[in-house]
Amino acid sequence: MRGKFITVEGPDGAGKTTQITRLSEHLMGQGKKVKVTREPGGTLLGEKLRDLLLFTENPVPEAEALIYAASRAQLVKNVILPALSEGYVVLCDRFVDSSLAYQGWARGLGIDEVLKINKWFLKECWPDLTILLDIDPEVSLKRLKGEKDRLEMENMEFHKKVRQGFLKVHKSFPDRIVIVDAAKSPEQIFSDILQAFDKRL
Ligand code: TYD
Repeated sequence: MRGKFITVEGPDGAGKTTQITRLSEHLMGQGKKVKVTREPGGTLLGEKLRDLLLFTENPVPEAEALIYAASRAQLVKNVILPALSEGYVVLCDRFVDSSLAYQGWARGLGIDEVLKINKWFLKECWPDLTILLDIDPEVSLKRLKGEKDRLEMENMEFHKKVRQGFLKVHKSFPDRIVIVDAAKSPEQIFSDILQAFDKRL
């Protein structure tokens, strides 16, 4: 039986990683097989591309979209699809909606254009559920600790566009994407995620 594919999206500092850890522990506690992965990354090639994407000179937006897509294609074929066919619940920290919001909207490439590149290889690998942790970047960016990566160093205007981009993407996929208010406490956010999970899956 095919497993379930869940993605968690949101602006930088929205708290995705904390919530994914909690969700994975919760699901494993219910006896489910869980695989946690992330984008960009999750494969050997993907982790190398992640380094290129986050810590080198600015690629042009088109190159940026294609490198994120390359990392995703590798992850889909080598990790996500095999795990789903073995019945795993796959939890992915960011997926295609990040490309639509960051490259499609905030970088100005066009959401439909970036969707087209991704549709080429995504085929049957669309998430069953996407949790969008929505938060004002004025709040979320203050939560970031440690060295900032290339995208985190973008200005506030860029981060506001990213948030706007995610909300636009939600309008295109209202059945798949559930918005959760990420300004709440981690406990409340988790309870909202579980509610979405029980309702949609
Ligand atoms: P992420 O690993 O989520 O960073 P962090 O854990 O520090 O939040 O993602 C790295 C950055 O890559 C993040 O700023 C968002 C960006 N990104 C895109 O621009 N496009 C994409 O398709 C993906 C997957 C991520």
